[in-house]
Amino acid sequence: MSNTFKALRAELESEELTIKITELGLENLPDGDTTIDVHYSSLNYKDGMAVNGNKARIMRNLPMSPGIDLAGIISSTSDKNYKKGDEVIVTGWGLGETHSGGYSQIVRVNSDWIIKKPDNISLKHTMSVGTAGLTAMLSIIELENSGIRNSSGDIVVTGAAGGVGSLSIMLLSKLGYSVTAVTGRMELEKYLKDLGATNIMSRDDLLAMSRPLNSGKWAGAIDTVGSTLLANILSAINYGGSVACCGNASGNDLPTTVLPFILRKIQLIGIDSVYCPINVRNDAWKRLGDLITPEEFENITNEVSLNEIEKPAKLILEGKVQGRTVVNIKDI
Ligand SMILES: NC(=O)c1ccc[n+]([C@@H]2O[C@H](COP(=O)([O-])OP(=O)(O)OC[C@H]3O[C@@H](n4cnc5c(N)ncnc54)[C@H](OP(=O)(O)O)[C@@H]3O)[C@@H](O)[C@H]2O)c1
Repeated sequence: MSNTFKALRAELESEELTIKITELGLENLPDGDTTIDVHYSSLNYKDGMAVNGNKARIMRNLPMSPGIDLAGIISSTSDKNYKKGDEVIVTGWGLGETHSGGYSQIVRVNSDWIIKKPDNISLKHTMSVGTAGLTAMLSIIELENSGIRNSSGDIVVTGAAGGVGSLSIMLLSKLGYSVTAVTGRMELEKYLKDLGATNIMSRDDLLAMSRPLNSGKWAGAIDTVGSTLLANILSAINYGGSVACCGNASGNDLPTTVLPFILRKIQLIGIDSVYCPINVRNDAWKRLGDLITPEEFENITNEVSLNEIEKPAKLILEGKVQGRTVVNIKDI
């Protein structure tokens, strides 16, 4: 193992934030019992906020590296459950937020954050889906746990052309669901239909459904945006249906009423990928590998090197990224 490595490093220099690729030594790594050579990370909305000037103070312990997820190979560990050479995934647990993250050729983490990569998916493809894929799969698992099946009726997905939305559509369609994709970019209709969406609805049409109760349209939903769009979805879920709430791309508020809950017995289920238990993650990663073929992983992925992260990181904050961006960390 080399004693020096490159990382995108955020630090305060005379009160000014700088974020640049820097050569570091092992002494710069945080505490942890396991050291990993990172091969790939990915670009998520939170990473966009971190790279673009640490918006909303996503990175809270400067100096550190952004990157909320990573896939790589263990180079040393004191945990007997792992060994040098194991291929592993780390997502969440404060990675890239409170603990130095995946935009770094070497990281040190706690072994209880680690998932062994399942055999049915490559290291690169784990980051083709990354935290977004894990969140989409967790949302589907929670809908299933609430009793939703592909025979229950149509499922609506918001933020459809984004990372979580695109993967939710693809996975639901593979599981035999009929899916309505809600997007602000109607020009991406073909992309969304190719992913498996049955119907496309414009964001404006959903925003116009502003009554406390609308006629039932959907058995369930995966909502990545929150605010008025989520409120309007709640108003049109069929009796006994469920909504997985996993994002806040349009806001943190939820201007709704109790009527859909007390008159239609619907459930609103929170989704969290950051502190989700390890056994649930293992199941979710295995299912992702079973459901998506290597060719499909490639089709939904744009690969960039860490040197090229600035442009896609800006686009993700503008809501202009389509699908997923995997970040090659080895070849800087
Ligand atoms: N709960 C968890 O553990 C977890 C994990 C990962 C992500 N998230 C959250 O999930 C959300 C989506 O993440 P992502 O990685 O998929 O982000 P993304 O790739 O940036 O996609 C977000 C999508 O939301 C839509 N959107 C953006 N701004 C909007 C606005 N003002 N109003 C309505 N729709 C808007 C856009 O889709 P269209 O162009 O199709 O409209 C955009 O592509 C984020 O809020 C993220 O923080 C949560």
